[in-house]
Amino acid sequence: MTRTFAAILAMTFAAAPAFAQGDAVSGDPEAGERVFNRCAACHMVVDGDGNTLAGRSGRVGPNLYNITNKAMGSVEDFNYSDLSMAANSQDIRITEETFAAYLADPTGWLEEQTGEDGRSNMARQRVSDEDAVNLFAYLASLASAPDS
Ligand code: HEC
Repeated sequence: MTRTFAAILAMTFAAAPAFAQGDAVSGDPEAGERVFNRCAACHMVVDGDGNTLAGRSGRVGPNLYNITNKAMGSVEDFNYSDLSMAANSQDIRITEETFAAYLADPTGWLEEQTGEDGRSNMARQRVSDEDAVNLFAYLASLASAPDS
C-alpha cells in the first residue's frame, strides 16, 4: 500500500513539477493580463516606490504586488476581514497552487485552511483554473523577487 501511494505521489509530482514549490510559476503572463481586467475594479498592483504597474484606481481590495508566496492579509494598513487576518497569523500563503481555490471561494477556502468561521470581504471570482494560473503568472511577472 505504502509503496503504491509513494509511486502515485512520484507520478503526480513528475506530471506537475511546478506545483512542488511555493514560488512556482507556470502560466502565460500575457493571457493573464487580459483576465486582470476583472480584478482591476478593486485591485491595483503598486510597487514599493509607488509606481502603478497594473490597474487604475481600484482600492477596495489590497495591492497585489509581489504576490508569489505572499502571506495572506499582509498588506500594511489594508483593512482586512478577520478571516484574512486569521490566515495571516497562520502564515497561509498565496501560491500558484492555492490561488485558484482561493479565488473560486474565498470564504470557504479560508475557513477550511484556518479552521475558523468567518467571512471573506472578497466575493467568489469566476475564474477557470487555467485563467487563475495565467493570472498568477501575470501578477508574478510584475514583481520578480518573491516575498518570503
Ligand atoms: C469587488 C471587489 C473585488 C474584486 C472584483 C476582486 N477582489 Fe480580490 N479582494 C477584494 C477584497 C475586499 C479583498 C480583501 C479580502 C478580505 O480581507 O477578506 C481581496 C483580497 C484578494 C486577495 C488576497 C490578498 C491579500 O493580501 O491577502 C487576492 C490574492 C485577490 N483578492 C485577488 C483577486 C483577483 C485575482 C481578482 C480578479 C479575478 C480579484 N481579487 C477581484 C476585493 C475584490
